[in-house]
Amino acid sequence: MSHPLPVIIQGGMGVGISDWRLARTVAQLGHLGVVSGTALDELLARRLQMGDPGGHMRRALDHFPVPHLAEQVWDTYYIAGGKAPTAAFITRAQPTPTPTQEWQALCVVANFVEVFLAREGHHNPVGINFLEKIQIPHLPSIYGAMLAGVDFVLMGAGIPLKIPGVLDLYVNHNVATYPLNVTGASGDDTVMLSFDPRAVVGLTEPPLKRPMFLAIIASDVLALTLHRRANGRVDGFIVEGPTAGGHNAPPRGALQLNDEGEPVYGVRDVVNLDKLKAIGLPFWLAGGAGAPGRLKEALEVGAAGIQVGTAFAMSAESGLRADYKQALLQQVLAGTADVFTDPRASPTGFPFKVAQLPGTLSDASVIDPRPRICDLGYLREAYRSDDGTTAFRCASERINVSESKGGETAETTGRACICNALMTSAHLPQVRARVHLEPGIVTMGDDLPGVARFIRPGASGYSAADVIATLEVEASLTQSVGPVGP
Ligand SMILES: Cc1cc2nc3c(=O)[nH]c(=O)nc-3n(C[C@H](O)[C@H](O)[C@H](O)COP(=O)(O)O)c2cc1C
Repeated sequence: MSHPLPVIIQGGMGVGISDWRLARTVAQLGHLGVVSGTALDELLARRLQMGDPGGHMRRALDHFPVPHLAEQVWDTYYIAGGKAPTAAFITRAQPTPTPTQEWQALCVVANFVEVFLAREGHHNPVGINFLEKIQIPHLPSIYGAMLAGVDFVLMGAGIPLKIPGVLDLYVNHNVATYPLNVTGASGDDTVMLSFDPRAVVGLTEPPLKRPMFLAIIASDVLALTLHRRANGRVDGFIVEGPTAGGHNAPPRGALQLNDEGEPVYGVRDVVNLDKLKAIGLPFWLAGGAGAPGRLKEALEVGAAGIQVGTAFAMSAESGLRADYKQALLQQVLAGTADVFTDPRASPTGFPFKVAQLPGTLSDASVIDPRPRICDLGYLREAYRSDDGTTAFRCASERINVSESKGGETAETTGRACICNALMTSAHLPQVRARVHLEPGIVTMGDDLPGVARFIRPGASGYSAADVIATLEVEASLTQSVGPVGP
């Protein structure tokens, strides 16, 4: 193992919340910075259409090992000076299980760019986070991140049994495959995604570093299954509880809601740490772990450390758009910040934490009038259609369209287009009919009010370094290497 294990992991936060700036800052401070790998193809395309402010995308593209692919992406999307505010971003065809060369190259390049920038100027490890449920981009995304030398791959929201083997194959630029979950497919009816780096990118050497693979789990049974049955090495686990920001694992058993309409979790949802420890791999605790005393407790029960999201999402370096961040910080200071665990909002069907912020999709008056347009499609469900082909539907697309594809009408109720909304929260909103901006949505953990402790008296915000310094002092850490200069 080339690096000591991190004590604090800054969790991956999509879309674009844990971007390269935040991950680089945390890595420079001696802990694990993790970029979100979600929707990086669209993020890069939109950043280029915004004119690449600061020239960071261009700088990273100049380091891509196959220049003509970087130029292909640049030529397709870059707009000098940025698009007009009333102009829409390019709507790309949504990728299928047999995607185009252009999209695969965009995915490889976009993941390379994000990891390259997060690793720039220091020698500390950097990770990338993916959601298992967003399967079609997995293969080119992982390869692009490995081309940039990513040290850790972290994956949750699913059962990533077949990811470790992909990491092993891409070390030598070999073709890898991944099974797509297709609703209604049975028996030996398997759709395999495939990505051949040699065919698309054209490199055969040098060998790439095999990143460590950390699975994000909410059950010790799943951890054991991954340890025993994965097609390659699993290096550790992030144990994520239901207070964490983002998507949460659903509670075991029949869904019960409390008086506020939030899922109720019980004893069956608590991970048995003794069973987890018996596996013998390192683990980190996540979900409110940025609260006072939690790091010390985690170390005392045998964890390697903690993964923290919300505290970093609200720091100055995160990619959350500035007006949303400021409004939420004001709520935090006023004692009015509130997070609702919405069992319906996400088309994935997983509970999704939503910070209550007027003007965003937490507000029914914003959600209801929005036309149900599905044009990004990351969270679409693949299904076996009547004619035997693999088709896609999304519970947040137009209800009659979803129904015409065999989707349950009840499934569409209360669903939000979080793909478009999260793009808006990363400050890259789509423009409709030259005037309407897609509304945003902000996800935060239940401990959002608790970030008040990182704000110094008289200040209106805080930095990622403030979070780390606070956590290190409280846990009397001596392992931290402190700031690492460029
Ligand atoms: C804004 C935000 C976005 C998140 N997005 C993701 C994601 O894309 N993938 C993921 O595995 N976890 C995601 N998470 C969860 C974090 O990686 C982390 O595990 C969690 O935030 C830890 O709990 P905490 O929020 O109480 O600190 C997100 C969390 C936040 C706050």
